[in-house]
Order: sequence, then structure tokens, then C-alpha cells
Amino acid sequence: MNHPLGSDIRPIEPFGLEVRFDLSRGLSPQDGATLKDLFYKHKLLLFRGQTLTRDEQFGVLEHIGPVDRASPLDYVMPDDPVLGTRHLAFHSDMHFAPFPAEGVSLLALDVEEQPTYTAFVDAADAWRRLPADVKQRLEGKRSVRAATPGVYEDELPYDLPEGMHSMEREVVMVHPETGEPIVYVARCSTSRIVGLGREESSELLHRLYDTIYDEAHMLKHWWRDGDLLIWDNLALQHARPSIEGITRRKLQRVTIATHEQSSQIPKSYVSPVDVDNWQVKEGAK
Ligand SMILES: [Fe+2]
Repeated sequence: MNHPLGSDIRPIEPFGLEVRFDLSRGLSPQDGATLKDLFYKHKLLLFRGQTLTRDEQFGVLEHIGPVDRASPLDYVMPDDPVLGTRHLAFHSDMHFAPFPAEGVSLLALDVEEQPTYTAFVDAADAWRRLPADVKQRLEGKRSVRAATPGVYEDELPYDLPEGMHSMEREVVMVHPETGEPIVYVARCSTSRIVGLGREESSELLHRLYDTIYDEAHMLKHWWRDGDLLIWDNLALQHARPSIEGITRRKLQRVTIATHEQSSQIPKSYVSPVDVDNWQVKEGAK
């Protein structure tokens, strides 16, 4: 028989929690409540050895919040037309949307023995690690976020390429559930801080990036078949190295989203097909 969820747990360094529990047997209301508590407390949960259909995965995540059944990205595979095998820089999924997904989960259905990893950083923890003077400088500040799919290796320039969809949003987001401040900027998708000149914006963003992307606080999860990861998509950013040459890497994806994600994708969304053009444009400036 399944023991109660939460009775067999192990912390992951530098953050996250491994929970030993067979999710396929179903969750009692108490288990569901514990799942939600652990998710918001630890921000990343790992369950190993899971076998779940996508519907069952929806059912598990529904204990945390509303799930997005209309999401166009249901499996992450090397032949995905958008993500492909490229290196994906640190990002939060749908970071450019007014309401990004609150949580993301991936279940490894079939991964090669030579494992690949997904890396995570905690931008709520980054806020706590920032010096007081930097925190003060961020008060009331907004940033320009571009609608990149998170594939750029280098950071965005101060001036966005013409035609690239962008939006402004607060630099420090208050987590809707936990109330924690989150440094909600990403090197691959933030171009500048509104109201600051080129140099000052760049200097301040680099101080934030140095803190957020500090390797000493980075988690790398090496995938094995049956691994289910559920993470807070607002507080955490994730990235992956190139998976060129990997043929088997099928991850089943389900998101927790109060607001449907596909309806928030702008029409001028820049697909990876345009990335090369973007780089040429940058070099030509
Ligand atoms: Fe992602």
C-alpha cells in the first residue's frame, strides 16, 4: 500500500525535494493537499519511477492548480519543430505572456541511457541573495521582455530587433501564491530596464544575472526513465544544453496555468527559424 504522500522525502541540493510515492495509485484529498504544500515550499519536486498517462499527469497536477489542457506543447522531443535540439537558455515558460504558466511538469517516458540534463535556478532565492542597495534600485522598475522562445545563447541587446514582439513587466514579481519577491528577468529575453540608459541598464541587469545564474546555486537534473519533475515556473528558470545527436528523449509535458497559454502567444512570435535572421541583423548594426 502507498504510504501517505510526504512521509518519505529527501531534500535535493541546492533546492528541491525528492518525494517517494507511486502517483499511479491515485492521491487522496490529504495527499493532494500535501503535494500542493510541498510544491510551493520547495519549488521543485522529483518523483522517480513513475508511469502516468497524460490524463493521469493532468490529474496529479490538478491538486496544485488548474491545468492547461489546450497547451500546444504536450511532448518535448528532439524532433520538436520549435525547440528542436538547440541549447535552450535559462527562461521561464511563456515569460513574455501577461500570465505565464504557474507550474510545469515533465515526465521522462523514454530517454537514452546517456542522460541529458535540465538545469534550474531559483530567482526567488536570488532576490534574497541580492545586496540591499541593489534591491533598492529595483524598486518600481519595469523591464522590456521580448517574445523569444528561449533559445538564444547570448543576452538580448538594449535595442530589440525591429518587429520583435515585446512587453513591459515589473522586474520584481510578487509570487501570486507565496507572496515571495522573484527577480523576474532572464538573460535571453530581457533587453533593458525601462527608464535607465544603456550603460546603467546593462550594469544593473548584469548584477542580477550574476546572482540568478550563479553556478553555486544551480541544480542540474539528469533524466532517467520514469522521472517526473514538477516545478514552479515563476520562481524558477530552466535551461538545457544542446541535445544534438540524441534521438530518444521523450518528455510528457503538463502545465499548471490559471490562464490558458496558447491564447497569449502573440501573432508576431519569433520562431527559431527567425533566430538566424535576428543574429544577422544584430551583426549588421
Ligand atoms: Fe521551457
